[in-house]
Amino acid sequence: MRTLTGLLAPEVIQAMVGLLEAKDMSTAAHTWRVVLYTRALAEKAGLNSEELERLTVAAALHDIGKIEIPSAILQKPGKLTEDEFEIMKTHTILGHDRLLRMGEDDRVVLDLVRHHHERFDGLGYPDRLTGDRIPVAARYFAVIDSFDAMTSIRPYRKETGVGAAEKAIAELESGIRTRYCPGTVEMFVSMYRTGELGWILEYFNDNAAVPKFSGGIDVAGARKNLKG
Ligand SMILES: [Fe+2]
Repeated sequence: MRTLTGLLAPEVIQAMVGLLEAKDMSTAAHTWRVVLYTRALAEKAGLNSEELERLTVAAALHDIGKIEIPSAILQKPGKLTEDEFEIMKTHTILGHDRLLRMGEDDRVVLDLVRHHHERFDGLGYPDRLTGDRIPVAARYFAVIDSFDAMTSIRPYRKETGVGAAEKAIAELESGIRTRYCPGTVEMFVSMYRTGELGWILEYFNDNAAVPKFSGGIDVAGARKNLKG
């Protein structure tokens, strides 16, 4: 695989993702899912393989700023207070600044990390961007991150995975133009309906033994191994 200039080395990405998963108690399966959804959408949108690699790094590192958020906030079982939420929100800027300090200069990566919590109506954070001013990759990722949160294991949710997907899809559709970019929701839902995303949800569930995410990604291999 050709190494892209401007992107961090695969082993650095792998180490950072490992740190993040430990700190915010997320799973390697979560990292894989968001990476694979992002790649699936980007492929559908006709992006080339170089752009796919950039998006893979961006998706894997999207929450990297959480490394600097106190564990008491990240791992709090209940609802965050207003002050705690304000601190949590800074993970977007902290992640962006950390990558800049590390020498990352890829616009796609920096933009996704900074803007993945912007909302289409401008009520998101950190920069309150609206509509098409939000970078495309970040608009994709807002949809993906929400869908993943609504279909993954949480202490308060009985139904996960495919069972929770219909409800999650309805939520995405009800958030069109407020939270989410209309074209992105339309593409995501249509891909889900045609069965192009279900395998990710099914085979990369939080209970599955999945390989650690590696920066030099072999998506086809991972998919084949898991599907057996
Ligand atoms: Fe985030």
